[in-house]
Amino acid sequence: MDTPSALVRHLDQYVIGQDDAKKTIAVAVHTHYRKVDKAQRDGADLTKSNVLLIGPTGTGKTLLCETLSRRLGVPFVTASATSLAQTRFVNDEIEAILQRLVDKAQGDIDRAERGIVFIDEIDKLRKTGEAAGGSSGESVQHALLKIMEGAPVKLAAGRHLNTASILFICGGAFVGLDNIMAQSHGFGFIGAGGGDSQAILDRLNRRVKPTDLFAFGLIPEFTGRLPIVANFGSLDRAALARILTEPRDSLANQFRDLLAAAGVELAIYPRVFEQIAELAFEYKTGARSLRGVFEEMMTPILYVLPDHPEIGRVEIASLFSPPRLLPRAQQPAG
Ligand SMILES: Nc1ncnc2c1ncn2[C@@H]1O[C@H](COP(=O)(O)OP(=O)(O)OP(=O)(O)O)[C@@H](O)[C@H]1O
Ligand SMILES: [Mg+2]
Repeated sequence: MDTPSALVRHLDQYVIGQDDAKKTIAVAVHTHYRKVDKAQRDGADLTKSNVLLIGPTGTGKTLLCETLSRRLGVPFVTASATSLAQTRFVNDEIEAILQRLVDKAQGDIDRAERGIVFIDEIDKLRKTGEAAGGSSGESVQHALLKIMEGAPVKLAAGRHLNTASILFICGGAFVGLDNIMAQSHGFGFIGAGGGDSQAILDRLNRRVKPTDLFAFGLIPEFTGRLPIVANFGSLDRAALARILTEPRDSLANQFRDLLAAAGVELAIYPRVFEQIAELAFEYKTGARSLRGVFEEMMTPILYVLPDHPEIGRVEIASLFSPPRLLPRAQQPAG
């Protein structure tokens, strides 16, 4: 299995920034599978450390988990806590999630039991607010607790799935948590001499404590099952511009490949990525709006190209001026 640093290097090819979160999660996942292997060898019980990802929407939480599980070759499913809270049959819904994990493992229970389940929008389960006709957030937390702890679950087909070694990663934006932390963290008053000790203080102050999550509205038993917390920062304009070009499967690469398949060269000036990032930044949905803006830019081009096989090169110099459509270089007759 990959070392944590090798996992991070792999993640770097797909996920921009979020360096702290990458390290935290790589170590957590590496440790988890080492524990699973050891427990299997020794026939012992496994004390699992599930992971909580905190950060704004569209900053790479799901992407990072997906990329990691693909690398590890373990089955991976995502579910949303909001939809769990909208049903009266929470346990059926949870069973369905685990069934999807088994399906991802092509029905192989042993493989499914080494899988990763990502539950998003966990912050929507805070203790207040009860959705009409649904289950209270608190009761959903209790239902999730059971599988996160490792209770065996009976699937519809009558088979049992042992959840003891399944890694649960929960995610959420936790809007307002920073205010709670600002009130509860008192490290700032210890006379910080600047430099290194200031950096350590900053780190402690940024650390989310179980009591903060409790104050937010997660029950203590639940926060207790999520001992590892990784923070995702919001993406600035520069990060958004990098996301357009740097990841292996970046939008720029996808469209370059698409046009190349029709024998057309696509050249986009760096300025354009800055302009797209600027717009997407205003939409405040992290990297999510990048695709919309990019597609809008490409649509008129994709509309005319098929009718004009003589076009061999497309140049986009600005988001706000028409692209240049250049004819194919003449092939010497031969
Ligand atoms: N750090 C990043 N690096 C590269 N691409 C990113 C990054 N963050 C987001 N993206 C892009 O934005 C899309 C949405 O990101 P993702 O699904 O990971 O968001 P999220 O943090 O899970 O948000 P939510 O809380 O709404 O579920 C991804 O598919 C990817 O294309
Ligand atoms: Mg997500």
